[in-house]
Amino acid sequence: MTHQRRWINLAVLGSGKGSNFSAIAKAIAQGEIAAKIAVVVSDNPKALILEKARQLAIPAVVLPQGKYKTWLEPWIEEELVRILKQYNTELVVLAGFMRVLKETFLASFEGKTLNIHPSLLPDFKGKEAWKAALKAAVKETGCTVHWVSKELDGGKIIAQSKVPVYPSDSPEELHARIQQAEHELYPRVLKEICLDWIKQKL
Ligand code: GAR
Repeated sequence: MTHQRRWINLAVLGSGKGSNFSAIAKAIAQGEIAAKIAVVVSDNPKALILEKARQLAIPAVVLPQGKYKTWLEPWIEEELVRILKQYNTELVVLAGFMRVLKETFLASFEGKTLNIHPSLLPDFKGKEAWKAALKAAVKETGCTVHWVSKELDGGKIIAQSKVPVYPSDSPEELHARIQQAEHELYPRVLKEICLDWIKQKL
């Protein structure tokens, strides 16, 4: 009997509360995505995403924090690549990972790393994009799933989802509305990508 490939091994990277991780894990548990979350990695030892992973019996690994807040020194990226390979990672899913990934990481995982960003890219790149959208008084914003490349929030766009911005919105209200859209969009995109990859590999 031949064994057919049935799922894609994911690594989810996050620095915060992990609501996108939970939405993805739920969709996998419901059989909607042909994937398995092999490992969760965080740069923040206090991140709730680690706790959530452990509750689901998913290995949760903390990276050394290093000297810089917004990026990882090459030796830490090497360590990250080592961990991802150890868990046979095929696709890396950034879910609120707040460090910019650079050459050492991309040398191994460019073309295999997705990110979700809380704006309609190319608008409002960078941190706290919902605050920038409020400040610019746009009528709608949303979220974008894209491939990760050398250019910050600049890789090829895969899909977007729009939400309205109301004049009365607080930053928290707007971010919560964007996150609802994220929790629907990210699993939907992952479902398609995993299916495509499995078809190609069969
Ligand atoms: C999400 O809104 C995601 O779009 C954003 O961080 C949040 C993480 O939430 N990412 C960025 O801003 C990346 N530049 P979560 O931890 O609840 O998934």
